[in-house]
Amino acid sequence: MRMKTIFDATTLRGRTLKNRVFRSATWMGMAENGCVTDEIVSMYQKLAQGQVGGILTGFTSVVPWDGELPGALRFFEPEHVKGHKRLTRAVHDCGSLIFLQAAMLDTFVPSGRAVPVNALTLSDFANIAEAYKKAAILAVEAGYDGLQIHGAHFFGLSKCLSPLCNQRNDTYGGSAERRAKIVLDILQAVRLVVPNDFIILIKINCSDFTEGGLSESDFLTTSLLLANAGIDAIEVSGNYTSRPHIRAGVNEAYFREAAVALRQITTCPILLVGGLRSLDRMNALVDQDDITYVSLSRPLLCEQNLIARWQAGDTRPARCISCNSCYHTEHHQCILHKGGKEEDAWDLCSNRSRRPAQWRPFFRCHKNENSCHCHYGHPR
Ligand SMILES: Cc1cc2nc3c(=O)[nH]c(=O)nc-3n(C[C@H](O)[C@H](O)[C@H](O)COP(=O)(O)O)c2cc1C
Ligand code: SF4
Repeated sequence: MRMKTIFDATTLRGRTLKNRVFRSATWMGMAENGCVTDEIVSMYQKLAQGQVGGILTGFTSVVPWDGELPGALRFFEPEHVKGHKRLTRAVHDCGSLIFLQAAMLDTFVPSGRAVPVNALTLSDFANIAEAYKKAAILAVEAGYDGLQIHGAHFFGLSKCLSPLCNQRNDTYGGSAERRAKIVLDILQAVRLVVPNDFIILIKINCSDFTEGGLSESDFLTTSLLLANAGIDAIEVSGNYTSRPHIRAGVNEAYFREAAVALRQITTCPILLVGGLRSLDRMNALVDQDDITYVSLSRPLLCEQNLIARWQAGDTRPARCISCNSCYHTEHHQCILHKGGKEEDAWDLCSNRSRRPAQWRPFFRCHKNENSCHCHYGHPR
């Protein structure tokens, strides 16, 4: 039988993806007042020209009363649609599909306060599902091929899924099944208002990697519920999402085991993200582990044309050295583009004073004990 490779065309909900490669959602800090800019359009166009089959936008807040991630997109008003139309057109013109990463920074309530998950009322949960529904309607209008519910990395929905943050004992908490209810509500609300071929994905943690947090067993329970409820694909991620010091052929694919465990219990398409750096490793994941899609963030910040390069026969691994400096540079540019070296990269990581003051709460070195356990380092 022919070996499966990342270059195979596939279909999701009858829509063709030209290969098995996704650009994982990557917040670039480039938006102005939450809106799409020329720079954003040009970057996504380059990714599509570089033969990435499916492109997830960066973190895009879809809840009007949400907190603001600096330079992140926001998408909840009809006025936002025009800019997003430019984005989807630019990607479609190059033959790729584009998906909105629909996110929620934290568990804010309509009065504009962030409250703990335990303090959300039933109507707050209904408002969240309603906000996702409205964003989905706008996403269809803007030409998106689908939407990804951001349920990972200790942002708002990830907190709802995590027993560390959600100790409720009602329909929205008390067991993995009940903690999953909010994402199931969102899935159902969105499905009702989008065309049949609109693709709905989710990104979730396979573990919070934190004592008392979401376990792999919780992840499997949640994923199975979502698969049975008709989610089109599940992207397997986790806290400590962007691990440093990844080396091709040595320590790639750090969430692989969880994805393989998920494959044992469902046929739902799986995207695997986290430390994928070499073509051989990715082809093995697709062929031997039956992982449907590979999903890349930092390698494509470093080389937007990586997939085209591989397709053209230059199969050297991704150039990215996983130093994570891009979290700290303006517009999350790869430090290697600026002629930087790995030593400089770690300097940047430890020298917080070089970062803009308003970003500091979000950027803590992963080595810093005072930050929470996702890479973003939300304050504990
Ligand atoms: C600068 C930067 C911004 C990121 N922004 C997002 C984001 O908006 N949403 C998200 O789900 N993950 C985000 N991530 C995490 C990546 O999507 C990915 O899960 C992680 O970096 C591991 O994949 P990689 O090894 O291919 O980089 C970001 C990562 C980086 C480096
Ligand atoms: S700055 Fe470092 S981690 Fe980020 S893309 Fe460049 S090499 Fe990779």
